[in-house]
Formats: sequence, C-alpha cells, structure tokens
Amino acid sequence: MIVHEKQDNPDTANRLDGMKQGVLGTAMSRIDGLAKVTGTALYAAEYSADNCAEGVLATATITRGVVNAIDKKAALALPGVIAVIDDPRLTTRAAQGTADEAPQQDPARVCYWGQPIALVVAETFEQARHAAKHLVVDYGEEVDAPVDPEAVKPEEQTEETVSQGDLDAAMSAAAHAVDVTFTTKGHASAAMEPHAAIASWNGDDLTVHASLQMLNYNITELADALGIPEQRIRLIARYVGGGFGSKLGISEEVVAAAIAAQEIGRPVRVVMTRQHVFQAIMRRSESTQRLRLCVDAAGKLTGFGHHALVSNLPGEEFAEPVLQSSHFLYAGANRELKLELARIHRMTAGSVRAPGEAVGMPALECAMDMLAEAAGIDPVKLRLMNIPEKDPEKGLPFSSHTLADCLTQAAKAFGWDHGLRKPRQTRKGEWWIGTGMASAARVHNVMEAKARVTLKADGTAVVETDMTDIGTGTYTIAAQIVGEMLGLAPDRVLVDLGDSRHPRGPGSGGSWGAPSIGSALYVACKAIREELAKRLDIDEPDLALRNGATSSGTQLTELLRGEDLARVGHYEPGAISEDFTASGFGAFFAQVRVNAFTGETRVDRMLGAFGFGRVLNRKTARSQCLGGITWSIGTALTEALEFDPRDGHLVNGDLAEYHVPVNRDVPDLDVILVEERDAAASPIQAKGIGELGMCGGAAAIGNAIYNASGARVLDFPMTPDRVIAAMPD
Ligand code: MOS
Repeated sequence: MIVHEKQDNPDTANRLDGMKQGVLGTAMSRIDGLAKVTGTALYAAEYSADNCAEGVLATATITRGVVNAIDKKAALALPGVIAVIDDPRLTTRAAQGTADEAPQQDPARVCYWGQPIALVVAETFEQARHAAKHLVVDYGEEVDAPVDPEAVKPEEQTEETVSQGDLDAAMSAAAHAVDVTFTTKGHASAAMEPHAAIASWNGDDLTVHASLQMLNYNITELADALGIPEQRIRLIARYVGGGFGSKLGISEEVVAAAIAAQEIGRPVRVVMTRQHVFQAIMRRSESTQRLRLCVDAAGKLTGFGHHALVSNLPGEEFAEPVLQSSHFLYAGANRELKLELARIHRMTAGSVRAPGEAVGMPALECAMDMLAEAAGIDPVKLRLMNIPEKDPEKGLPFSSHTLADCLTQAAKAFGWDHGLRKPRQTRKGEWWIGTGMASAARVHNVMEAKARVTLKADGTAVVETDMTDIGTGTYTIAAQIVGEMLGLAPDRVLVDLGDSRHPRGPGSGGSWGAPSIGSALYVACKAIREELAKRLDIDEPDLALRNGATSSGTQLTELLRGEDLARVGHYEPGAISEDFTASGFGAFFAQVRVNAFTGETRVDRMLGAFGFGRVLNRKTARSQCLGGITWSIGTALTEALEFDPRDGHLVNGDLAEYHVPVNRDVPDLDVILVEERDAAASPIQAKGIGELGMCGGAAAIGNAIYNASGARVLDFPMTPDRVIAAMPD
C-alpha cells in the first residue's frame, strides 16, 4: 500500500521528538561500517560475473572534430582482445550526465580532448589497456575549438540576473566600498572509488552493477542511451565509494559495458583508470567573479553586486550556480547579480560537491573581509549586522535562520578576538600567524522520494528503496528513523538500498538525501503506526513504542498476528518550497601560519558551526562537516584543474598532480552542531548537511592568510607563489 504525503505547510508537530526509542540523533556508528572496514562491502567492480570480459575506454586525442573511422586491425590482433566497440551510442551526450535530454547541438562527435570514443574488450584489463593504445583513429579535419573562457563572448544566464535599485550610485555614495575580482580554478570530484560498471544480459534483460548516486534517474538515462525500456534494466549500487556529483549521472563506462556485453554475449566490466576519471568525468567550472559591496557609515550594506563568469561545453545546460546563496545571504537594497556562461571545449562542467556556493561563497566571504577592514568593523559584527529579516530579493520569509547563532557560537568556541584587526601582528620564526573567519550558506533542497518499510511478523523491520549511500550514512539514518518510529533497536532494522527494483528514492545529491528519504520513511512508518494504533484502539500519537513493545507491555509480534505489515511512503515537497527561502547556515574560523620566505600556508586549527535543522545522527553529521571543511582546505590552498591553453586538455589528471588535502594538510578540526527544528524544510525538520561544510570555508583560510601575512590573494587556490607575490615588502 502506497501512502502519499505532500508537504504544503510547515510541520510544527515535531513528532519525532516524542518517540520513545531514543535512537534518532544519537552518535550511532555506521551500520555498514564493519562491512566496509573488513572489505566485505562490495563495490561495483568487485562483483563476480561468470566469464566476465574486461573493457578499457579509448579516448580522443583531438579537441573537437569527427571520428571518420577507427582502424581496429592492429588492436584486434593482440593477445586476448575480443572486440573493439565504437557504437555511436557510446559518445552521445546522454552518456555525459548533465545534458538531460538535449541532443548534442554540436555536430562533431568529439567535443573535448580525452572524451571516450571506443571500448576495447579483452580477457584481462591489461590486455585491453594495451590494445586501446593500438587503435588508429582517423579524425578527419579538426574543427576550431575555443578553450579559454575569457576569450569568447559569454551567454548571460538571465534567470540569475537581478537588478534592484542603483548599485553604481550606492557605490559612489557609500561610506566604504570594495570592488574586487577573484578567480577560482576548476575542481575534480576525486572520489576514492573510480567509476566502474559490470553489465550482464539475460536475454533482453540487463543487469548493471555500477557506482552511481541517483538510480531513479540513472535508469532512465541508461534506457535512453541504449534505446530500450527501463523495465528491462536493473541497476545495483549498494556501496558507492564517494561521488560528490561525479556519479549523479551515468557516464561512458556504464553505457559501454552494456553495449559490449550485448555484442560479445558475455558480461563485461569497465573500470575507469584514475586518469579517465579526471579527464572524462565532469569538472567543476573555473570562475571569474567581481564583487561590489558597500556600506553606510554604520556598517549597513547599501549595495551588493556579484557578477560571475563560468564555462561549459556547447549544448550543455549546466551553468555553475555561483550566485545561489548571494541572492539571500546579506541585506543591501541596491543589488546587481549576473551569471555568464562561456562556451568552450574543456571537458563537461557539472556538479561537484556544493555546486554554486563552493565557488561563490569563498569569493564573497573574502570580499566581506576586505569590506570589514575598509569600514573598520569586526568581520563577525559586519556579518551579524547585515543578516536580512527576509529574502532581500524574493521578499520571502526564511524557513529558519541560524547564521547569527553559528557566528556567535563559533566565535566564542574559537576564542575570536573582537578588537580591531590588523595584519602581520604575530610572527614565530619564519612563520606569520593569523586568524580569519567566514560565513557558510548552502541552499536546502528536498526531493520526491519513495521507500517501503515492512514490519515483519517476527518483530524486525526491513527498509527497501533504490536510494544510495555514497559514504554519507544513509544506511544508518534509515535504521535510526525506522527504529525510532517503530520502537525497534536499530539492529532489528535491515536496510536494503541501491537496487532499482525497490521503490524510487531521491538519490544522493545536492545534500537532499537525508531529508528526502528520511521523509519517505517517516510517511511509511507513520502509516504503520496508524495501523498498529487502530489494532489497539488508540490514537496514533498516543502509541508509545520501545524495544518491540508498547508502553503497556503489548508485544509488536502480538499486534502483528503472524503477518507482515508493509507500507510504501511517498513523500513529495509541495507548495511550501514556494513560500520560504530555505538554507543551511554556518560559520568558519581558521588559524593559519604563513611562511615569510616560501609563502607556504599551513592550517593550524579550524572550526565550523553549522545549523541544518534536526541532526539525525551526530556522528555521521559531524563527519560530513569534517569532510566539507577538508574540501575547504583544498579549495583554499591546493586544488586546481590545469588545462593546456592550446587544446584544452587536462594536464594534471591524477592524484599526484591534483592535490587533495591529505592528513598532513588537515589539522584538528572542530565542529559545532547548532541543532534546530526547521518545520518548513521537511516533515522530519531536517535540512541537508553534506555540502554546507565547504561553502565559504576557503575564505576563512584566505582571510587568515591576509591577517597573518598581509598577503591579500585574489586567486584560488592560494598557492605559495601567489602568496609570495601578494606579500607586502
Ligand atoms: Mo552533489 S555535487 O549534487 O553530489
């Protein structure tokens, strides 16, 4: 039985607070933790399939053009080689994840250097990899391909454009103003598990084990790419070793494995090499951002301007939403916001953890620091006094607002000195030492979701949904929500995720996973509770369940009368999303040390306070924040995709040259969870947390670099050469 609930109004009943099991919100360890650390959790490439062949992708060595023909003879003659697949379905942009339906608007088949164009299938991975080097590709004539975002005329993304009042006039009339341009580099998702798929056919039925974030959407993409009905496909992704956006959509390894398996009549496994993942999976766009901010003599923002230039391939819909939180974070009556997109032939740009804020917030929050200095106001105070009462552009109320609490609590815990700040005040040996801070904001998303909960006759429960756990803790919070509502210890709840045969969840993306699937589970459990209450002849809110029994001692097994009780919860966000501006908020504080001679920066301590509604699990939530802050360190100091200016190819396509922060880069991090109940965010009063921890954190580090050394660096990442160049003499 499906129970549908559409949320049109805030849910202030906070029902979850009245339940008796007492497991929700606790710092419970992951229920999948043991399987993961003992290696028994199977990832996509680790499944065994009888007689499985291995496929390796061959990639283009031109930037833009047509593949006339591929001479396969030499490759096919090599030992172990079974087939070379160059089916055009492999290179359709449906296999690129971000292009929803739009067919390729560029007639050339190759539109970036490194794009997969064929799959070589052999008995072993090594044989296939070797043979892939022996394909002779006739590309025909190469087509002109701009690769520099600054060198083409960009397209304005008009839905992002805001023009309120007169910013120029406000800037000239202001007591203090900053007008500053920042640049950010592209990022890679760099998930630990490379993209991988094993495809096997049984007649017309296809089963694919893959590493994907959104099975509900991926199954449609794959059906479209292959030209077969969804009903013929089963997708399985029980464990996913990180995604960060790179596995939101299907990519070539999935399509190629399916086509090849059909063609050779054997299962085929395709595992991308690390270089393939870097080159052929979507990048975060680089950006150029101009910030214009001005205040009156009291420090109140009178003008707010944010222009950003980002890039993507021709025909792609995605434009890094840099201004996402700029629209509502701070007051300022005179506003000018504009997002522009340059069409260039670097690889596809798409979602990488916290698309939008991860790019926009670091620039905005460094500009706010410069404004605070210009106005002679403590940067924490400047932010506190410019928190708007309501959304300054849409006029909507906020669903809840924790920025002030986060700023205040984090400043106190960090030991922030609210006095007048001056750079270069502390030096120890070669090192300048200083502190900095920034606000965090990340829009709240919630999605339609379905999940089945079965209360079994034996008093255990089973959760079934195609929802994924990409390392975030979905398995665990599902067991906690169901355990809490049905009065079961979480180890009595079996959570079965990542199988497209189950009811469709929302997938993991945009930090919507927990609030969305949590709400579907809430709806299902409420319906089960109603049935149980009916059997007891009481009202559902009066049903107190704990450890498999009611408060008056009736066992659940008795109430179930030997039969399972199952409900599919179907949650849908309703009109409420139009009535409120909903966001997570936070604050970052960092202390850094900057080497006076080399410009090297070390983060010595960092702290973040975050408000994101109900905390479902204190341990997994904190882990998400720690991960986000770690990404902030990478954004601030080390992570940058570098493209060859001649052909746009990615130069640093591995983890040696693309430096994600490692243990030595990450100091002790502190996280404060500023718990609240956001009644408009979701029926479980929770908002997303996965991305919030990196939305602005890089600015706290940048501002600390300035406070320590006097170097105001306007280009991310703030590598030693840039810090040295910006240092005062
Ligand atoms: Mo996210 S970047 O939507 O996985």
